[in-house]
Amino acid sequence: MSEPDPVALNPSDLARARELIRAAERVAVLTGAGISAESGIPTFREAQTGHWARFRPEDLASPAAYRRDPEMVWQWYAGRARDVQAAAPNPGHTALAELERRKGEGFLLATQNVDGLHARAGSERLIELHGNLAQARCERCAHVQPWPGEATAPPPCPVCGATLRPNVVWFGEYLPSAALEASQLAFAQADLALVIGTSSLVEPAASLPLLTLRGGGAVTEINPDQTPISALVTLRLAGRASQVLPALLEDYV
Ligand code: APR
Repeated sequence: MSEPDPVALNPSDLARARELIRAAERVAVLTGAGISAESGIPTFREAQTGHWARFRPEDLASPAAYRRDPEMVWQWYAGRARDVQAAAPNPGHTALAELERRKGEGFLLATQNVDGLHARAGSERLIELHGNLAQARCERCAHVQPWPGEATAPPPCPVCGATLRPNVVWFGEYLPSAALEASQLAFAQADLALVIGTSSLVEPAASLPLLTLRGGGAVTEINPDQTPISALVTLRLAGRASQVLPALLEDYV
């Protein structure tokens, strides 16, 4: 993967990106695994090492897998939850929390990441489209709780007695409709969408920035690599999120 230093980014692109941010009243942000790469969070596939390498992703992250072998799936997520606890937010996450403070109500951050790092960096106007690894939820009732780190197998729900499961969206499952609808509205109404560190391959998140373009807003993509939306966006900044985002806010007071 190419990783140019942001100072090597075209200065006029940087200036234009800063101007778009400053001028926008409504900013919608979509993030993916790339923003957490520099916090050392392995992607789903990167985490499949050692014992886990022989499994296909859908053998670990699907309702069918959980029915077949709940203990194994639980242990896979327990490992990922431990990885995430050991990591810390990076300057990319922090810059987005800062942008939220500047934009206030006109700001929304929708993330596909389940690592919880945006919340730990201080983001509050945040939608975790794919859930959160640091939480478990009940299979039957609405109960959500912090991940029970001591459990080596799925424990019963303390409210209704059904089985707890990881609070993440699995292959073949729908995104929570309220979260998706709120995100779609924010992107449709945004003057500016920032698309950061996502391969823009997984729907429905991948289409969110297209709603902004359709509504007449601008889209800035921050990603060292090209993606399927690169040809459509208003502006592309080919750099790392942890360097480009702080640079964009540098003189924004
Ligand atoms: N800064 C910005 N972008 C980066 C960086 C970085 N430092 N490092 C990598 N990237 C980019 C890569 O070029 C790639 O385009 O981040 C993107 C990561 O893509 P994916 O690994 O496909 O992650 P994501 O788009 O979040 O995946 C979406 O797919 O695996 C499922 O449900 C899972 O939420 C996930 C969804």
